[in-house]
Amino acid sequence: MCGIVGYIGERAALPFLVDGLKRLEYRGYDSAGIATVGGSGLELVRAKGKLHNLEQKLEGAYRTTATIGIGHTRWATHGKPEEHNAHPHTDASGRLAVIQNGIIENYSELRTALKERGCLFKSETDTEVIPHLIACHLDGRTLLEAVLAAVRELKGAYAIAVLSADFPDEMIVVRQQAPLVVGYGDGENYFASDVPAIVSHTTRVLTLQDGECARITRTGVEVYDFTGHKLRRSPRTLNWNPSLVEKRGFRHFMLKEIHEQPGVIRDSLEDRIGDRGSPVRLGLPTDLFAGLERIYIIACGTSWHASLVGKYLIESLSGLPTEVNYASEFRYNLPPLSDRILVIGVTQSGETADTIEALKVAHQQGVRILGITNRPESSLGQKYEHIIDTRAGLEIGVAATKTFTSQLIAFYLLALQLAHLRDTQTPERIHEILTGLQQLPTHIENILDTQERYITELAREFDATRDFIFVGRGLNYPIALEGALKLKEISYIHAEGYPAGEMKHGPIALLDAAVPVVAIAVPGKVYEKVLSNAQEAKARDARLIGVAPLDDPAAVETFDQILPVPVVDELLSPILTVVPLQLLAYHIAARRGLDVDQPRNLAKSVTVE
Ligand code: F6R
Repeated sequence: MCGIVGYIGERAALPFLVDGLKRLEYRGYDSAGIATVGGSGLELVRAKGKLHNLEQKLEGAYRTTATIGIGHTRWATHGKPEEHNAHPHTDASGRLAVIQNGIIENYSELRTALKERGCLFKSETDTEVIPHLIACHLDGRTLLEAVLAAVRELKGAYAIAVLSADFPDEMIVVRQQAPLVVGYGDGENYFASDVPAIVSHTTRVLTLQDGECARITRTGVEVYDFTGHKLRRSPRTLNWNPSLVEKRGFRHFMLKEIHEQPGVIRDSLEDRIGDRGSPVRLGLPTDLFAGLERIYIIACGTSWHASLVGKYLIESLSGLPTEVNYASEFRYNLPPLSDRILVIGVTQSGETADTIEALKVAHQQGVRILGITNRPESSLGQKYEHIIDTRAGLEIGVAATKTFTSQLIAFYLLALQLAHLRDTQTPERIHEILTGLQQLPTHIENILDTQERYITELAREFDATRDFIFVGRGLNYPIALEGALKLKEISYIHAEGYPAGEMKHGPIALLDAAVPVVAIAVPGKVYEKVLSNAQEAKARDARLIGVAPLDDPAAVETFDQILPVPVVDELLSPILTVVPLQLLAYHIAARRGLDVDQPRNLAKSVTVE
């Protein structure tokens, strides 16, 4: 969840580090710090709070032309978000600095042992044991040897970077179950937790694997395993557009990413729609699906919501029994598994520890694995052979938007491929859905063009609102959950999503004039039912907002306000109904002056359990 970054080259390291940390701030923002090695040895600057506090300190007092340095932005795990707990942490000599992303599980026993050896600790973090441990192992060894000796004593999931004033021409980085990429420049090299930190400098990157370590110098990168055995690894060139990391005139990344959705859907469908004999082309072998008995989908948060829609699509189109599990639950409560089961892991970051680990334990049981992600270069993308790249690219706003809709597109394509292989839908029906999918980007463009101003105005009316309820049924029930999650995570308003039919079994007790209810009501199997459920809420004085067709008198009659969506095949409606809910959440939060892109306590990439 923390972000780490490093530079070694001929230029001043500081601008690179600050820029890299800005690009990584979405990973954690409790505190930040940098360490450089220059003429006066190791220099350390740290600040509590967001990155601009560190920047102010750097501007005020710190001038360095050092050409090697490391930086960290923290999402607190062990120890409060105070300056003394900010990374980098040093050994007793103050000549060796370490940054870490992850958790050192055995830090407590290591700390006790190190204290017995006379080490003094200045923080409450798990990380501080690492510089002390490395220092104990240095004793005539190279930095690489000492780091590896220390690493062999660590238990946990982590990515580490080490800088030492006694080895001013190298940085050592280590990966064990936390993301780490090394970037290759010209006469300079870099590392980071994630590609955005380095993509404006290079697209040649090497994703380190678990159990690997790299020695990075100005002229090269050497990769080793934890026993010190040198490995042959070479970088690959990413097909990335650096504009993904710019706001391009939008006030927030989240708003930009909401507006990118039509383009993302077009990209994710591009060249994947075939002919009658092979209607969907996902590049997956048919034997991945042969003789399947059941599918388990595992995910967290917004990706879990996309998976709920995915289950509905797979079951209704292909008839294959499908269950959706929270990755954090699945991991420790495995159902009976076999090689006739496909487990699908869905993750926008490709790094979520719960999902990665749940897939690992399932894989050990011999299941087939499929990953769905927009980050094929991530841990998930690198670990498994079969991946659907949703092509949403990088998402910077912590609240997932375009990655959600792109995951939905992946599920439509997958469900249609299964329907084709299992012969559960006619070619005409498959063609009809595929054609409908291709029309969605234009519909979203219309929603964005016509509703943005209206929703901006509507948002003013919720300045004092403390609770919201979202309801939907069928495949729009997960969209109600997603609408509630979007609102709560960026506006801090309490919001719950319910299946509309469940309201009367309890939650209806919460309703009064102060609790707006947002109902997703689109023509289809349960349209009239949702309208009746909405009426039940209205009878309890709730203010009713409908995500519904504007030209239906029943909807106009039911709702106090309508966020209109065009009428499409009900099966395709979730991709449209989620867009007004994303805008509503965004504009309510933006009006409150909140930090929409980096909401408190959240991180874009949750790499701890
Ligand atoms: C919410 C959000 C989170 C993530 C969750 C899983 O907007 O983004 O709920 O969906 O942390 O993350 P990934 O998809 O990276 O596994």
